[in-house]
Amino acid sequence: MPLGLTASEASTSPIQDGPVAPGVAPGFPDPSIIARMANVFFHLAPNQSLTPTADPGIPIAPPNPAFAPAPNVVTSVAPHTPANPMVGPPDLPPTTIPSIVPTPNLVAPQAPSPSSLPPGFSPPLPGASAGSAAPVDPPFALGETAQLVPAAHRANPYDSAASAGAGAETSYFLSEATLLAPSAQPVAAPAIPQAPPAIPIAPHAVLAPQSGATAEAPAGAPASAPAAQKAPAASYNFLELDLRPLAAPARGAAGFPLDPEAIKRDFPILQERVNGGKKLIWLDNAATTQKPLAVIERISDFYKHENSNIHRAAHALAARATDAYEAAREKTRRFLNAPSVRDIIFVRGATEGINFVAQSWGRANVKEGDEILVSHLEHHANIVPWQQLCAQTGAKLRVAPVDDSGQIILEAYEKLLGPKTKIVAVTQVSNALGTVTPVTEMTALAHQHGICVLVDGAQAVSHMPIDVQAIGCDFYVFSGHKVFGPTGIGAVYGRDSVLAQTPPWQGGGNMIADVTFEKTVFQGPPERFEAGTGNIADAVGLGAAIDYVESLGMANIAAYEHGLLEYATAKMLAVPRLKLIGTAREKASVLSFVIEGKETVEIGKALDAEGIAVRSGHHCAQPILRRFGLEATVRPSLAFYNTCEDVDALVDVLFKLQGRN
Ligand code: ALA
Repeated sequence: MPLGLTASEASTSPIQDGPVAPGVAPGFPDPSIIARMANVFFHLAPNQSLTPTADPGIPIAPPNPAFAPAPNVVTSVAPHTPANPMVGPPDLPPTTIPSIVPTPNLVAPQAPSPSSLPPGFSPPLPGASAGSAAPVDPPFALGETAQLVPAAHRANPYDSAASAGAGAETSYFLSEATLLAPSAQPVAAPAIPQAPPAIPIAPHAVLAPQSGATAEAPAGAPASAPAAQKAPAASYNFLELDLRPLAAPARGAAGFPLDPEAIKRDFPILQERVNGGKKLIWLDNAATTQKPLAVIERISDFYKHENSNIHRAAHALAARATDAYEAAREKTRRFLNAPSVRDIIFVRGATEGINFVAQSWGRANVKEGDEILVSHLEHHANIVPWQQLCAQTGAKLRVAPVDDSGQIILEAYEKLLGPKTKIVAVTQVSNALGTVTPVTEMTALAHQHGICVLVDGAQAVSHMPIDVQAIGCDFYVFSGHKVFGPTGIGAVYGRDSVLAQTPPWQGGGNMIADVTFEKTVFQGPPERFEAGTGNIADAVGLGAAIDYVESLGMANIAAYEHGLLEYATAKMLAVPRLKLIGTAREKASVLSFVIEGKETVEIGKALDAEGIAVRSGHHCAQPILRRFGLEATVRPSLAFYNTCEDVDALVDVLFKLQGRN
């Protein structure tokens, strides 16, 4: 079965809508042959021949009997006339999922017995057959051109002599005292440059490293470069411990620093004026990111020129829409460095991605007495779905603790891994504190015990290069709107061998190879997990967002933002009575804080009055704030279009709030 039609196939594909002869769809072989083929593939683990990864991951369980073809069922279809008007199901009584106590490692409350679960909690049966029709890789026609960064975005290109010095991993240093004891610091900020340090690093997306050096190819380079050639990313997330001048640049091969002022001009909303003519300063990037014109226009163009349903018809627009949607899947694969487009499932966002894994993989693999391990840093979206799974299965939720800087205590985490642990679900970057967690090490430790690992990348994808093969995780989820793409679209990466053992979550069109009233044969990944008509236009918009950030270069973005984070950290710590919440050495983007004697709402309003948007509140991460004895913080969060001037404006308001200028 093809995943989709390319333009060239549109007129020749045998798959068409239209009248279906009894028993045999036009263009299909006999359904019983498909079913037999599918079930052969299923038992042979259909994707096992895909590119092997260095890390074998979790052991493959034998096929779950629940997926096996069900005996034929005779279904009587009687004429049905509803006796009453359809008014929808009666309201269910409110369901409380008991919250875990903020103290780590407490056992989750006893799960209710299945009979006490409300009707909505019964699992969807995984259909009659989990056979896979083993779809082949689609012949993607990547007709879209990556959005090239205008030359105006490149400030002061460096000559090779200037950039031949320190490696790109060179970082900046803040004293431990600066980070941990702000009140001990002099009020005057340390020597701070008026602009982020110049960061000459190689331009554009990493595609083909040579001789071990970080090599980045131009944005227009073919998207089909082998995934395995993606260069390892330098880490820009360390806040190091000696104070050195912030101007120390991280240098790479002949590259250029980003010019955020030029980049700002790509974002129409950043020209907006609010609250009586104040220029908008968007420092709420952890909540959502703004969209470049390239994304806005791509979605508009899709609706003007390509709109159609996908994978279903043989007309020209169906082919265009299918091409555009599947091209977005390929871009997402490339962005995450996943081995295959079959490993990329489009979902509504990270939240839906985690719910999908909990309810599909989780329901098939987690049982009473098992344990699910999260960290204390997690967003509610990486807590509540697991609590729901615990309530459904009788499993227990365990919590890996963090230290006072907000970093996961690796030794404590390791001790929580054991034979009962079925899955580790951990964020890569904390949305509340900005901590960058050691997901690669955590994954390796979990795999030593044969434990599946899900990484929540919602807050990471906009700040650093992501390589799911290097991390080694089994699932990785993210949301498009956090990476300059549309809301309502996101993706799950699933390791091929794990997806092969994962039943569908939702049933419907698109995810099936064949349906009769007696039984259903499912598609293989990814369609098996994409029931119904998806968010096609926004998937295309996500592809445009990926093109945009890759044209800037994720490594460039990481380096630039690191400089800005250092700058902002030093400036904010000069504000009297301000306490940063989250001082891990490895951090990205987020500067959560409180000011003694000031309500967070009051601070948020004062900033808003000056056009500065930040989030004040619990950030959908109450357990970690309570770990620090707080119910709320103020949370500025940075992106590559923010500048030192934006930070200065923020800090000015904070000083004024204290009655000082
Ligand atoms: N998850 C988003 C945030 O952290 C909404 O603000």
